[in-house]
Amino acid sequence: MALFGLLGGKKTSVGLDIGSGILKVAVIDHSGSEPELVKVATTEVAADAIVEGEVMDPGIVAEAIRGLFSAAGVKQKQVVTAVGGRDVIVKKIQMDRMKEADAREVIRWEAEQHVPFDMANVELDFQILDPSAEGLQMNVLLVAAKRELVDSRTSLLAEAGLRASIIDVDAFAIHNAFELNHPDALQGVVAIANIGHEITNVNILEDGVPVLTRDLSVGTRRFREDLQREKGLSAEDSEKVIQGQAQHPDLASYVDARGEEIAVGVERAAAFLATASRSAGGLSRVYTAGGGSRVPGLNDALSSRLKVPVEQANPVQRLKVRDAVFDAVAVDEVAPLLLLSVGLALRRAA
Ligand SMILES: Nc1ncnc2c1ncn2[C@@H]1O[C@H](COP(=O)(O)OP(=O)(O)OP(=O)(O)O)[C@@H](O)[C@H]1O
Ligand SMILES: [Mg+2]
Repeated sequence: MALFGLLGGKKTSVGLDIGSGILKVAVIDHSGSEPELVKVATTEVAADAIVEGEVMDPGIVAEAIRGLFSAAGVKQKQVVTAVGGRDVIVKKIQMDRMKEADAREVIRWEAEQHVPFDMANVELDFQILDPSAEGLQMNVLLVAAKRELVDSRTSLLAEAGLRASIIDVDAFAIHNAFELNHPDALQGVVAIANIGHEITNVNILEDGVPVLTRDLSVGTRRFREDLQREKGLSAEDSEKVIQGQAQHPDLASYVDARGEEIAVGVERAAAFLATASRSAGGLSRVYTAGGGSRVPGLNDALSSRLKVPVEQANPVQRLKVRDAVFDAVAVDEVAPLLLLSVGLALRRAA
């Protein structure tokens, strides 16, 4: 499922995650019997060039993408990237059972009842979740994105000298990487919280299907600003504290407060799902990813607040990794940031 582009047989896929704090690129070779991660690279983005997922300064971001590709020696010009945020909607809907080709004819009409955007300017895709079931109704996962968002992503890439072979949705790419690496977590209701620099993407999976997504305006930037504003630390010193390279006696109280915000977001998303699907199944486990999953004490704070186990998702838990990929960077430090880029590179473009 993708908003744009075709899946196919390309040998290598380049996944590009345009984060508001850090750009990440992951390259996966699909020519062997199983996908193999052959390259990863990251670079920081200038402060405020991307705010809450929105690219404010395309020139600066395009330049940073060019720099990242040349430093990492990525020659391919076709990339797989994704959009997310409030201009993208992922929703599980019910509609009359029909063949996929017929559903494609009527999906725009169906979507009208579920998507609060102007339908003339929307990119849509869908997937039938229970194709072999028999009832009169079928469950469909619907995704809709404002065309403007897809267009601006395409023009950003063009400015960086790249083309999008696929434009995916953040939540699906995250799910894709998660599914491969944590197959044992595909039962019941599980949440993935990708805690980034500015945004936390909450992804609720029901029996392995990503049925609901929510974005929270919390990320490591908030933790850093708490320490800067209230404790007078410099940006660099705060960053060291939130990455666990230095200690601060007051970090725990900020972790509790911000952790509470994330926990409430996760809890609400899970509760919404329970009401919408009339299922009683409560949240059984939370996986964290992104830079925020490395903040000391945050996973424990979430776990004691939500009363379920919380652990870090690892995009290279099962994925095959070519020798030397993590020679220049510590895998434990960087892997949690790569869930989305790995999920993107797992797609094979046409
Ligand atoms: N090893 C690391 N290298 C760089 N930053 C790290 C590292 N570990 C944690 N961090 C923190 O995580 C943040 C980046 O996290 P992440 O890459 O998940 O965010 P992002 O994708 O850029 O942002 P968003 O998803 O909100 O747009 C950094 O701003 C920093 O505070
Ligand atoms: Mg991110």
